[in-house]
Amino acid sequence: MSDSTVSHTVKNLESAFAGESMANRKYLYFARQCRALGAEEVAAVFEETAHQETAHAFGHLELLYPPESLTVEKMLALAVEGETYEYTEMYPAFRHTALEERNHAAVAEMDEQIVESQEHANRFAALLDKAAKRFAALTSVEKRHAGRYQQTLDARKK
Ligand SMILES: [Fe+2]
Ligand SMILES: [Fe+2]
Repeated sequence: MSDSTVSHTVKNLESAFAGESMANRKYLYFARQCRALGAEEVAAVFEETAHQETAHAFGHLELLYPPESLTVEKMLALAVEGETYEYTEMYPAFRHTALEERNHAAVAEMDEQIVESQEHANRFAALLDKAAKRFAALTSVEKRHAGRYQQTLDARKK
């Protein structure tokens, strides 16, 4: 398998994941609107299909992020990276365009998303920090144990 095959397939999986994820949220939204319009049967089919789209999206994710490759720290780092991209690059650029196009509702929406993405990034970063500190504490405890064990061994040799 050549490198380009791998990267195309990864890109395709990312697109497929995006599509299935969007279908899930769109169908749940349509279900809500159908129910408000009194179309209960259609709403139920949209909801059932939405759940199947989630299963499709998860299948793609398992190939993109194999479970055996994931640690809690890695997942937190990926989340911080994604949210940081949103509030530092993506939404500011979208806000700029919305402003140029005088779409004030969209500007307000982008501003709201900048704040929320930053909150999400901070929340994940705090957990990542906590995990790193726990790891550092654990290693220092282990170092102390190892030191004491060595002292005991040395004492016995005397
Ligand atoms: Fe699907
Ligand atoms: Fe977010």
